[in-house]
Amino acid sequence: MSASHLLTPISLHKRPAAVQAHTADAPGPRVYIETFGCQMNEYDTELLRALLKKRGFHFTAIGTEADVVLFNTCAIRENAHNRLYGHLAEFKRAKQERGVVIGVLGCMAQNLKKDLLAERPFIDVLVGPDGYRRLPDLLTDALEFRKRGMAVDLSESETYDDIVPDRTEGINGWIAVMRGCDNFCSFCVVPYTRGRERSRDPKGVLDEARRLADQGVRQITLLGQNVNSYHYDDWDFAKLLVSVADINGIQRVRFTSPHPKDFPPALIEAVAQHPHICRHIHLPLQSGNDRILERMGRCYTQSDYLRLVDAIQQTGPITLTTDVICGFCGETEEEFQDTFHVMQAVEFQSAFVFKYSERKHTIAARKYPDDVPDPVKGERTNRILEWQKQISAKKNRSLYGQSVEVLVEGHSKKSETQLMGHTESNVTVVWDQSDTPCPVGSLVPVIVDEASASTLFGHPVHSGRRFKPVQ
Ligand code: 5AD
Ligand code: SF4
Repeated sequence: MSASHLLTPISLHKRPAAVQAHTADAPGPRVYIETFGCQMNEYDTELLRALLKKRGFHFTAIGTEADVVLFNTCAIRENAHNRLYGHLAEFKRAKQERGVVIGVLGCMAQNLKKDLLAERPFIDVLVGPDGYRRLPDLLTDALEFRKRGMAVDLSESETYDDIVPDRTEGINGWIAVMRGCDNFCSFCVVPYTRGRERSRDPKGVLDEARRLADQGVRQITLLGQNVNSYHYDDWDFAKLLVSVADINGIQRVRFTSPHPKDFPPALIEAVAQHPHICRHIHLPLQSGNDRILERMGRCYTQSDYLRLVDAIQQTGPITLTTDVICGFCGETEEEFQDTFHVMQAVEFQSAFVFKYSERKHTIAARKYPDDVPDPVKGERTNRILEWQKQISAKKNRSLYGQSVEVLVEGHSKKSETQLMGHTESNVTVVWDQSDTPCPVGSLVPVIVDEASASTLFGHPVHSGRRFKPVQ
């Protein structure tokens, strides 16, 4: 039987007036959506908004006003699950009081499927990453007939190529160029939640990029679970990247996340040479030990990784960042030290460091005991994080007095009198607003006066003002 069959209806409490009154000429149900996890999920939320708007749904930023509450979820680590359960509990009450329809979408819906519906009877709709087109119908059934439903079939071809994402304004845009992953790294749930790898027609990607440029987007991030394994007819990822970067109006192109095994010289060359491709590569290491890398199914050794780093660095100054997992199954202190050594040899600009978290269905969950005690995982994670913080701060401080080119994004999060943007290396830069014009979307030179591990503080060239650090 198909996994996307409708389940037994449950009784919902009193329906809100807006839902009861929904007809072709009355305003449709109001939807509140929360997005967890990666940029791909943010992008998927844009697709979902487009699909729902087309069918008369409206969006609200206020959860308590909504008729439908949706969670676009992430399943990559245990804490992503826990965060969702906290949020679900908040809206359970709204369901009891107002009969709000609750939907769980994305990776967690796909991963837990019926378990989630069985354990949380207040969830009405469950939709995996390949089932978004079914969402409007499932929500309508839930709103009008009080039916629970799910769409969790994985597809080998769905790329949502014909859907124009409903994006919020801004100078940053992202485009999913491929979906799914065939790598099956043993720790990773993505191949099970997002299914088989498939690439979009480059024509669709380039049309989308041109449309974004016309809307005022200046920086595009190309997304994929394994973005550099993109291939479509005779197009590979390097060709696609260069073609997007050639589009008029696009100042910067980034991509995430690549796998170290798919780095042909043409891709390195493109990053090193093209004036609009950021000279920054996020290169997930995961572990620096050969036995652990083998267990992880990463298809490279420590020396393969270091050779790739060398090849990248020989082309000129390219910033590297990474992902690391601490405490994977069976990892000894000596094996962890190998990861530390690679971190020391490369000196990444920054690193995401994660405690290994066993995921249901994965190869590691089936094959290896999760035997590194939690406090040991935590201690190793902190050791790397602390060390990395010092390296990031050292690198940022080495820029004192130098000019960095910043893409202006708007006001800083903390103050209306400060502006912010990012360098080509993706480091955040903050500066006091002054008479020097810094229009949003422009590239401005900023002299660095102060730096922390994560942020540069400075003043735009010619403003004659120095940043006063906040105590
Ligand atoms: N446990 C811990 N970290 C994980 N990641 C992926 N799966 C797991 C897991 N089970 C990390 C990897 C990946 C990043 C997106 O999340 O480092 O690159
Ligand atoms: Fe997960 Fe590995 Fe695929 Fe990345 S490449 S999404 S870590 S399976």
